[in-house]
Amino acid sequence: MDRELALEVTRVTEGAALAAAKWLGRGDKNQADGAATNAMREIFDSVNMKGRVVIGEGEMDEAPMLYIGEELGTGNGPEVDIAVDPIEGTTIVAKGYTNAITVLAIADRGNLLHAPDMYMEKLAVGPNAAGKVSIDDPVEKTIEIVAKANNKAIEDVTVMVLERERHQDTIDRIREKGARVKLFSDNDISAAIATSLPGTGVDLFLGTGGAPEGVVAAAGLKCLGGDMQGRLVPQNDGEIARCKEMGIEDPHRILMLNDLVAGDDAIFSATGVTSGTFLNEAKFLGGGLVETDSIVMRAKTKTVRYIKTVHNLEHKPNYYLKSND
Ligand code: FBP
Repeated sequence: MDRELALEVTRVTEGAALAAAKWLGRGDKNQADGAATNAMREIFDSVNMKGRVVIGEGEMDEAPMLYIGEELGTGNGPEVDIAVDPIEGTTIVAKGYTNAITVLAIADRGNLLHAPDMYMEKLAVGPNAAGKVSIDDPVEKTIEIVAKANNKAIEDVTVMVLERERHQDTIDRIREKGARVKLFSDNDISAAIATSLPGTGVDLFLGTGGAPEGVVAAAGLKCLGGDMQGRLVPQNDGEIARCKEMGIEDPHRILMLNDLVAGDDAIFSATGVTSGTFLNEAKFLGGGLVETDSIVMRAKTKTVRYIKTVHNLEHKPNYYLKSND
């Protein structure tokens, strides 16, 4: 992949964040998501690449834009697969809470797992604990491994867990073990990434969330030298059949980082819609100016860039600001 692609796709997450930010706190997550999807779709088409959506807004008959299989880009440039999440944390945006991002991942054609839209059990750690943990281990053992790897006392280990009823037993066990628990309402991509970014203080992310989000997070962890494992959690025969259709023969097997994102290169870009662990919100500065905060990283070179951009909305095309209806 060309390195220019990293900077180019940041325009895509920035544009989606501008569009999403207009819907902050208006109580309508579908409009917010539609606006971000519309902006992402439009901007993608100015990027020099032969892109194909492998993780998107749904199947062709369910999603008007960014559907699985949709071709994106000018058609000139590298052949890549794309995973998008126009808003990670739609409810957050609708309610005006913290921690929503717009996010995407890109890899050479064939290198992103075609994850079906179902739950996935996930575990992520930073570079020091990479290769030392297993999703099969009890959480108590994982905490011990991570504490040792990060040179921390167990009581200082910070574990991020999505706040859901299904995680209550895990939360109780982490507390019992003596580690710190940081619950969050949505956006487990950011929680997984936080384990591997220096300065967040987060050591471990675990729990069950969306499988597509698992693949996007894995691309980010590959850029940061962190580690991630996943296991699909099909809920019925239909979901098992869906795994097989998508080329996953054994839906219950552990998916290692290289199964989620193969090869040695990937690009991950995210822009804050509302402030979170490592990105600031899109800020309306007055006079038509909006400041965005993004992170863009590349697995091959392990470069991590933080990009602060001031956009002048008077000079932006309309699609940044419209919903998709
Ligand atoms: P949306 O932005 O699509 O609402 O997803 C947010 C999210 O919190 C993901 O980060 C997470 O993987 C998934 O939803 C969890 O699903 P559920 O809300 O069903 O527990």
